[in-house]
Amino acid sequence: MSNPSLLILPGDGIGPEVMAEVRRIIDWMAARRGIVFDVSEDLVGGCAYDKYGTPLHDKTMAKAQEVDAVLLGAVGGPKYDSLPFAVKPERGLLRLRKEMDLYANLRPAQCFDALADFSSLKKDVVAGLDIMIVRELTGGVYFGEPRGIFTEGNERVGINTQRYSESEIARVSRSAFEMARKRRNKVCSMEKANVMESGVLWREVVQKIRDEEYPDVELSHMYADNGAMQLVRWPKQFDVIVTDNLFGDILSDCAAMLTGSLGMLPSASLGAPMKNGRPKALYEPVHGSAPDIAGQGKANPIACILSFAMALRYSFDMGAEADRVEKAVEKVLADGVRTADLMGPEGGSPVSTTGMGDAILAALDASL
Ligand code: IPM
Ligand code: MG
Repeated sequence: MSNPSLLILPGDGIGPEVMAEVRRIIDWMAARRGIVFDVSEDLVGGCAYDKYGTPLHDKTMAKAQEVDAVLLGAVGGPKYDSLPFAVKPERGLLRLRKEMDLYANLRPAQCFDALADFSSLKKDVVAGLDIMIVRELTGGVYFGEPRGIFTEGNERVGINTQRYSESEIARVSRSAFEMARKRRNKVCSMEKANVMESGVLWREVVQKIRDEEYPDVELSHMYADNGAMQLVRWPKQFDVIVTDNLFGDILSDCAAMLTGSLGMLPSASLGAPMKNGRPKALYEPVHGSAPDIAGQGKANPIACILSFAMALRYSFDMGAEADRVEKAVEKVLADGVRTADLMGPEGGSPVSTTGMGDAILAALDASL
């Protein structure tokens, strides 16, 4: 049997720095666990635009469709802000999500004990937190037509369209209910059914899928604005949250801060199963390219490393190895190893990106 294949797209800003630490873990897996991946690497985002004039070359897109999993760092940067929409770095990422049809974006927010003091919320609000946001990723206002800036009379109007079909809502809600069954069996669906027809349909379809296929799972509905409030008021009331593309984007950034730092959060974007039974999959940290600290060795590689752990779990059925990586991260945090983003206002001496990688590799060695 051939080795499992991985396409690595480090991207822009801190992407290459954090991905370098993942590559060390991949090397460690080969050397110490005999788990060998066929790894290829390519460009996405601004760096791809610089080289090819497009944020995602067709060849890269084709490669992404072929491999067992894609691992992405981050895209974007101020240098590209004034580019036309069609070639902005973000379009590279959005094209990957759309053409691979990665409709279910899993964004876990877990508060590591060692960081409970560090959240901007009170410790008892976040300690032990473990929630999973399932964000719809290929529809809604991100992709709906019509879209654009048009002239109407003597002024311009900007238009985007929120659009969801029943089947789009049904498939992502199934992902959420499946996920809940492996967790605490509870789903909260968030929309704005009080103002949006797409929200009315969303609520109806999620409820129908629950009643017909997942009667054992507890389902509640919440308006997304209330959901945002509840997330900071008492986040532990949630297990799985299922929501649309735009609300999911916003709510997951909010959930990230519950855990102490955006530098901690991984994500998995999954589509339908391929011929080999594995889901189409792309793994990436929730954080962006952080151009303000890029190239300085300050970035926290944990979100990217935990994204690789999600790949082990969801694409390669290597749950035990995923646990090993997650435990190693937990251990270094418990030992007080901190990158700059994990420093409280009182300061201290942070480790570099590579320093964090060193500590995690040492913890992995110790796990054997
Ligand atoms: C995210 C990001 C992306 C999004 C951007 C970079 C296109 O914010 O993955 O959360 O809006 O989906
Ligand atoms: Mg976002």
